[in-house]
Amino acid sequence: MTTSQQALQDPLFDPFGTSSTADPYPAFKVLRDEHPVYRVTARDVWVISRHDDIQAISRDWRTFTNSPSVDLDDTMDIVGPGSFVDQEPPHHDELRAVLRDRFTPAAVNRETPAVEAIVERLLDGLDPGDVDLAGQIAWPLPVAMLCHLMGFPPEDVAGLTPLFVALSAREPGRQNAPQASRDAATALSDYVSEQMKERKRRPGDDLLSLIQAATKEGTVAQEEVRGMCLLLCNAGTSTTAALLGNAFAALGNHPDQRRILAEDPERIPAGLEEVLRWDAPVVYLGRRVARSAELHGVELPEGARLALLYSAANRDDRRYERPDVFDVTREPKRHLGFGEGIHFCLGAPLARLEARIMIAALLRRHPDYALTGEAERSTEHTARGFFKLPADLTGAHA
Ligand code: HEM
Repeated sequence: MTTSQQALQDPLFDPFGTSSTADPYPAFKVLRDEHPVYRVTARDVWVISRHDDIQAISRDWRTFTNSPSVDLDDTMDIVGPGSFVDQEPPHHDELRAVLRDRFTPAAVNRETPAVEAIVERLLDGLDPGDVDLAGQIAWPLPVAMLCHLMGFPPEDVAGLTPLFVALSAREPGRQNAPQASRDAATALSDYVSEQMKERKRRPGDDLLSLIQAATKEGTVAQEEVRGMCLLLCNAGTSTTAALLGNAFAALGNHPDQRRILAEDPERIPAGLEEVLRWDAPVVYLGRRVARSAELHGVELPEGARLALLYSAANRDDRRYERPDVFDVTREPKRHLGFGEGIHFCLGAPLARLEARIMIAALLRRHPDYALTGEAERSTEHTARGFFKLPADLTGAHA
């Protein structure tokens, strides 16, 4: 076994192993307080955990670059060129600009009826006594919305959903993506190619048609189409699924906080910001040191790989009072759940809209839901969410 195949027994952080362990936050506190620049020797990765350090690094892309990849595993090999989160200006800006206007809050708000229709359909289809909040709601909503925006036919969504889930699955402790994830990427990109042929014949008002038009103009190279689409497929689904799962779990485990939101739905947007802070869906993303730098007296050599631990930054008591307390009435203060700087999440308004509508509808219908049975955390290296979250919506457990 090589080091990359072994489960790393690092007590503080393994970038390929522990994102979804039950409670990583005590270890994150040790990192922040005692090792703000921590080297995971076996992985050759430096972990950065304090809020202000991550914010400063994220704003300085010339020194700390996303290229060649924000994933420290081999995800980049699967996705390929076109994934602009892994690129820097000027080409990053050109590719991001192709999609930008579709992701402004105003443009995204026009999708409200589409989100509401999906949410109502998903909730109507549940057997309240026996529900899997992750598999039946948290994943299907962002997958259906992403397909809708891409212009994929609604009848294809059910068949595509397992591919989106498999795309993000990893084996804890192993650096390389499993074959199932590679196969899912191939199947999704084959599907995208087929859809693209259709858009060439009949352009529509969807993201795929936008990307197709940009290839004609030469902004997007033909070989970048796959990476751009897979970036959207991955960044737009597993992250929002993680946010929804973490929100269901946090509110399930804190009935007093859930009651506050159920009784006053106007508080839901702020409550969701608290979920993003308290249990961040994206635990970390990588950077490469483009020119050597020093942080807290530690020399970061050119070429070093960093892990920016957003989940730790969001609980930094140098920035937040009582950071470990889940408090939906907290005065919202900017967090790093969606990143910072030129790579700030393009899809943040969409994720917020989906989560707001879903949580409002769930609490309206089932304010006394209870978590039951064994939850199963997702296995992504960089994200923390759920694959399975059993619940009883009837209120019988309340
Ligand atoms: C709760 C859900 C989400 C979370 C927590 C999240 C988190 C993030 C974070 C932390 C970054 C920063 C990357 C970096 O600094 O290197 C990012 C970038 C990105 N996100 Fe999201 N994201 C979410 C939902 C979405 C959705 C719904 C979409 C699209 C449909 C999306 C598309 C993107 C894209 C394209 C980028 C790259 C932006 C760039 O490099 O310019 N995300 N996201």
